[in-house]
Amino acid sequence: MKPREIVQLGAASTATIGDIVVYRGKAEDVLPTIADDSVDCVLTDPPYYRVLPDDWDRQWPSRGAYLSWLREIAEQWHRVLTVRGSLYVFCSPAMMLPVGSLLSERFNVLNLCRWQKPDARSSSPEDQRRWHEGWEGCIFAEPLSARAHLSTAMDRARGAQTEAVRQYFRSELVRSGLSQAELIRSFGAKVASHYFQRSQFMIPTAERYVQLREVMRAAAPDAEPPILDRSYEEISAEFEEALQIPDVPRRTFQARSGDSSDLWTFSSCREREDRHPAAKPVPLFWHILETSTRPGDLVLDTFAGAAPVGVACVNLGRRAILVEQDPHWHAVGVRRIEAAHALERREMIAVRGPLFE
Ligand SMILES: C[S@@+](CC[C@H](N)C(=O)[O-])C[C@H]1O[C@@H](n2cnc3c(N)ncnc32)[C@H](O)[C@@H]1O
Repeated sequence: MKPREIVQLGAASTATIGDIVVYRGKAEDVLPTIADDSVDCVLTDPPYYRVLPDDWDRQWPSRGAYLSWLREIAEQWHRVLTVRGSLYVFCSPAMMLPVGSLLSERFNVLNLCRWQKPDARSSSPEDQRRWHEGWEGCIFAEPLSARAHLSTAMDRARGAQTEAVRQYFRSELVRSGLSQAELIRSFGAKVASHYFQRSQFMIPTAERYVQLREVMRAAAPDAEPPILDRSYEEISAEFEEALQIPDVPRRTFQARSGDSSDLWTFSSCREREDRHPAAKPVPLFWHILETSTRPGDLVLDTFAGAAPVGVACVNLGRRAILVEQDPHWHAVGVRRIEAAHALERREMIAVRGPLFE
């Protein structure tokens, strides 16, 4: 597949490693520079709002301010995502409902997925008086326009598939020498117009087919072969076959068999020196990207951290635009992507090193 052009900001802080562009900057500044309808999958892990002590998770004076900020970011995700694209947004269990609700202003929420951490531990004293959270949320959605777009595409494709049948009725009408209006008059039922026109085309019932044949043959008794000579069974079988689900391009979703659960169990990243405080494991992103994207697709992560999405994209041959505001995490992410480039995925599985977690 020929890779599409990746949007370039030309900023000095931009690193390009193969098909991965890593911007150092704010999501709200970079997003407006990305072309409309250019991204196949937004897969991102924004600040959760006051879950961690880090400044980047405490930038907003209130929950409302955080949600307003996220709403503006979501508008941009919606603008850059193709109509057949997928959106994955991680969030804390507490924010699953408000974030899901703001996303549903522009997206159909398809799943409230959970990253389950078999190794999760209760971390703070107040957690002792409630269930500890063994999971983080991930909202999976598609643009609101996706369904209408798909059904229009299906209708069009079905129209194309049934065209040969319609052409048969049309050409028999021409051979009969009748105009459509004359035919309807003689036939005595307006429904006959549907047997010839593209919009709302349908074939007659078996009974009406016989009547139609009589009317048309009466108008052209000497036609050779006789008008509507094909059997009703043959025509209706051809029509039924043409109505089968058309092969129109749809949102990618190729879950490996038996692995389409919305519960994703992956161990947390191991402690290490350059571990991001909100680190997510690369295999989690493989799982999502293998299901929802194809090789060569363009993936966007506007809150990249140490770039596990970028590493997964390198492994799977996806292109990516990543954005990270923090110079330290930007540099760590770039280093990990460069290292991933140097390794084949099989080798990475064998290595199971820090790069990977
Ligand atoms: C939850 S962390 C992502 C962690 C990442 N998934 C990982 O495994 O390394 C969110 C990241 O977003 C960055 N960030 C916060 N606000 C940002 C903004 N407005 N634009 C770009 N990055 C931002 C933070 O610096 C932080 O590294």
